[in-house]
Amino acid sequence: MTSDQANSNGARQTWGTRWGIVLALAGNAIGLGNFLRFPRQAAENGGGAFMIPYFVALLVIGLPMMWMECAIGRYGGKRGHGHTAGMIDSLWDHPAAKYVGALGIFLPFTIATYYIYITSWCLAFSVFSLLGTYNGLQSREQMGAFLSAFHGVVPDAHFASVLTAYGFYVVTMGLTMAVLLGGVAKGIERLAKAAMPTLFLIGAFLAVRVLMFGTPDLTLPDRNVWAGLGFVWNPRLDVLADPQVWVAAAGQIFFTLSIGWGIVHTYASYLGEDDDVALTGAATVGLNEFAEVILGGTIALTAAVAFFGVDATRDIAHSGSFDLGFQALPVIFQRTTAGGLVGCLWFLLLFFAGLTSAVAMAQPLIALLEETWNVPNRRAVLLVCGALFVLTQPVILLKGYGFLDELDYWAGEVGLVVFGFLEVVIFAWIFGIERGWQQIEHGAAIRPSRVFMPILKYATPLFLGGILALWAWHEVPAKLAMTDVPAEVRPYLIGARAMMVGLLVATFWIVRKASLSWGKGASRFVK
Ligand code: PHE
Repeated sequence: MTSDQANSNGARQTWGTRWGIVLALAGNAIGLGNFLRFPRQAAENGGGAFMIPYFVALLVIGLPMMWMECAIGRYGGKRGHGHTAGMIDSLWDHPAAKYVGALGIFLPFTIATYYIYITSWCLAFSVFSLLGTYNGLQSREQMGAFLSAFHGVVPDAHFASVLTAYGFYVVTMGLTMAVLLGGVAKGIERLAKAAMPTLFLIGAFLAVRVLMFGTPDLTLPDRNVWAGLGFVWNPRLDVLADPQVWVAAAGQIFFTLSIGWGIVHTYASYLGEDDDVALTGAATVGLNEFAEVILGGTIALTAAVAFFGVDATRDIAHSGSFDLGFQALPVIFQRTTAGGLVGCLWFLLLFFAGLTSAVAMAQPLIALLEETWNVPNRRAVLLVCGALFVLTQPVILLKGYGFLDELDYWAGEVGLVVFGFLEVVIFAWIFGIERGWQQIEHGAAIRPSRVFMPILKYATPLFLGGILALWAWHEVPAKLAMTDVPAEVRPYLIGARAMMVGLLVATFWIVRKASLSWGKGASRFVK
């Protein structure tokens, strides 16, 4: 295996500008996770009690792994690889390496089958909010019924079938494809340059608007924005002994920073050989955390506590992933001045966040097709988006049977940590932390503190290994056996699993075929 040699023909795509890189990476990291998933996790896990494990996970997992993934990406890109299958193969000279790396193609692709669909709901609700389609639905229950009719689960007077949702999905998928057809600099980067500043403006406006709610109902003086902020920011130590809170915090860090997905690597592979990864990674983390804890935390959580109180907010978060964003907030905004417009902006914010993330998820597979078989960009995009479109059909049509949630659990929760754990072990222990750290420092405008070296070598794998052990021991067996699930739903969950297994096997097969050309890189060795 000549994995240390490049097999690039020198024609890889590159980013346009330095700012463009940071915005594109931030666009990929800032997504639905920041504005929907984070508030839910924080509320469910005790508000201020959640924030301590969250920031620990940010320092032990998030920041060092972001540097690591950027460095692996640039290292792989130099060797002609824009996907983790090739990258892990060049870090670890072992036949199994490419299959570990294949996870970084399989996971984002699988997640994209539902992520793009959820992104399309945001576009739909933005339009509904502006048109006043759900005006008058004054309780969360009514909004919940509206959402489930929109999904085609329980039709009502607003939606007779899933057709409206389907239409918005087609538009969103079309937009995703249009951006990808532009390529890295003219598609993804250009979108990020327009969408990210807009997103921050809307986010700042909404956060200020929420803070102006003050005490919405003077007869209930306990419910106000200060109580909301207190809920998020008053640290509580009593829950820290609960391992579940730590697992939730680490899971959130993975999801929100796009770590363990294989995507940061792909984006970083379009960097130049001497481009900085340390500052780029840190800036991405900084922007993402600002969007998450300041904007995401303030908008959804503070508003919910101000209107419904802490206990109800926790219940809302507990009852479902989309209950805060899609049910509670529309009810709240309707009770305020120009609520239709504010609601429209809220969902538009979610839509931009989702779209800049959606385009990232298809890119690793596109890169693999382009680089291995010289498939032209256009055809690779059409192929990948076509496959995504087909695989999203069961996600849309079987929404009421937990198909989407099943994919999300295995790929979006467990899968990310599995891949993250394997790659950190390969990077820090097999490739070697010394060489690895040199990669991170290479070209760095500001060198990251070396304190993170032992962290990445010992603390990160231990933390992740602990989570995996905990899952394997007391969560995964029950999930696998579907003990908590009604019998009539089980066939659909098995269907979702079959789809994932099929996709995984297909990815392994493609990667195996592709790997046959990596060894022959010498003749195309350009550097
Ligand atoms: N980080 C994104 C979010 O918070 C999800 C994502 C992961 C997007 C990987 C793209 C790539 O929603």
